[in-house]
Amino acid sequence: MRCTAFCLVAAWAAASAAASANIDVAGQSEFHGGVLLPRQQGRVNLQAFTGALGGAKAPAITNSGDPQRPFEVDGDTFTDFESASNRACDNQKNVCADIANNGTGSFTVGDCDQQNQQCKSAASSAATKTFPPPVLVSSNDQFDIFCDA
Ligand SMILES: *[C@@H]1O[C@H](CO)[C@@H](O)[C@H](O)[C@H]1NC(C)=O
Repeated sequence: MRCTAFCLVAAWAAASAAASANIDVAGQSEFHGGVLLPRQQGRVNLQAFTGALGGAKAPAITNSGDPQRPFEVDGDTFTDFESASNRACDNQKNVCADIANNGTGSFTVGDCDQQNQQCKSAASSAATKTFPPPVLVSSNDQFDIFCDA
């Protein structure tokens, strides 16, 4: 499911409009006084590698929201952490090599290859390779409201 906080806002508005639904006030306070933040802002990023030759960081590994392919990197989704982190490291290498080749960086493509190895090694020893489960913050007879950030 690719539901963002905006879906919650929509559900909330629909519930309020319906007047028959009542989301409890305790739940509301969990959302910083009723203001729902876009899910993107709190998104968990499993990318552990911080090296960034030429300023090009390894792209984020975020939760796609699809239980079958939960790992997302630059818009592509993967079934497992290893595939996702390999892609992230390789995408970083491609940008790095561009910078090395187009003369805007003071390093070589060989340096990018070396960084790529470091990136993959950081991924294989990463402390966290899964996303935390969503936390139920509120529910009523119509909605269970989860927070996954
Ligand atoms: C060099 O490559 C980087 C990475 O693709 C790009 O962001 C940058 O605009 C390029 N610079 C030039 C001068 O082509």
